[in-house]
Amino acid sequence: MNRRKIVQTAAATGLLVGTAMVPASQRKKTPRDFTGPFYPVDPRNRTNDLISGTPRSEVLHLSGRVLAPNGAPFEGALVDIWQADPEGRYKHPRDRGQDRLLEEFLYSGEAATDACGEFAFRTYVPGRYGSRPAQHIHYKVWVQGREVLTSQVYFDELGGDRGFARSSEAAALQTVRLVQVDDDNVRASIDIVI
Ligand SMILES: [Fe+2]
Repeated sequence: MNRRKIVQTAAATGLLVGTAMVPASQRKKTPRDFTGPFYPVDPRNRTNDLISGTPRSEVLHLSGRVLAPNGAPFEGALVDIWQADPEGRYKHPRDRGQDRLLEEFLYSGEAATDACGEFAFRTYVPGRYGSRPAQHIHYKVWVQGREVLTSQVYFDELGGDRGFARSSEAAALQTVRLVQVDDDNVRASIDIVI
């Protein structure tokens, strides 16, 4: 096979970019989204289980992967989530109703990705709150102590981003399906591309 033929073949399969071999399809990076006013002021809860007692509301098992655009898993990335409880309250001195926070709920947590880039949380389905009716979970991704992404997850079954993401293309990349597991549990999964 001559060089022209090799390049044509590689171009057809998307394998050759310059001299580097890359997968045929690059994943789009997860879009940034607003941090919002309620990033936790307390030290981070170093757990991926945000429910410390008997659940009082529907439990969300949120799993996912942190990947590079070529699909390679990111091991050891830290996924740092914070969210409203099912009543739409954050644990934050600037939010209202701090005397009515849920005792069993931590409101934030973190998980490190494993060798497959995977992470998992046990939390509540976030409630809606007045200024932002699109139910969502905020997160940051840290790699070696450096913040590399701040974004949010939206849920199709809860109405999606309702126009709150930065664009409709961004919303599509940030919105996941909620799957009913049983009467008390739902699950969702997201790929975060950094
Ligand atoms: Fe929020």
